[in-house]
Amino acid sequence: MHKDLEKILYTEEEVKAASKKLADRINKDYAGQEVVFVGLLKGSVQFMADLLKNIDLMCKVDFMCVSSYGNGTKSTGRVNIIKDLSEPIDDKNVIIVEDIIDSGNTLSFIRQYFAAKNARSVRICTLLNKPSRREVEIDVEYIGYDVPDEFVVGYGLDYREYYRNLPYIGVLKPEIYE
Ligand code: IMP
Ligand code: MG
Repeated sequence: MHKDLEKILYTEEEVKAASKKLADRINKDYAGQEVVFVGLLKGSVQFMADLLKNIDLMCKVDFMCVSSYGNGTKSTGRVNIIKDLSEPIDDKNVIIVEDIIDSGNTLSFIRQYFAAKNARSVRICTLLNKPSRREVEIDVEYIGYDVPDEFVVGYGLDYREYYRNLPYIGVLKPEIYE
């Protein structure tokens, strides 16, 4: 598994430090308010766990599973809901927790979906951001790290469902997916 990586981008310590910084900002921004954190399965799971341990607010946690990718490394632009929210979010402050924003298609779909469900507010918190690949304009309030246009795996991020368990984020060797 480790040998399939070209290089390590962020160590576990660096990822945890980013989660802590983002949680500190969220704690300040939402002081005295309740928040529902909605993690997008499956990529957000490791990041969500780190983030939540540093959140000092009354909050609920929910998950959604959507797919836009199929099995390749490029977005198809279509988003399917595989698992929906388990509780209503009307009048709630929602923070969507995501592993990486690439084209922006997934998040722009979910934002509209949550707005239609009458959330009081919706913000996005992502561990990684690939700004160079954006296809739709999208406001992202909380970003851990901007990454270059390379396919990254680990810390929840997958290639064909593998590598999610790596305790760091690295660049996959192109020969693995070419
Ligand atoms: P978007 O809809 O194009 O913004 O894609 C978002 C989803 O694509 C993320 O939740 C990831 O599952 C996946 N994705 C995008 N870039 C990468 C990458 O570099 N590595 C692994 N998954 C990625
Ligand atoms: Mg994925």
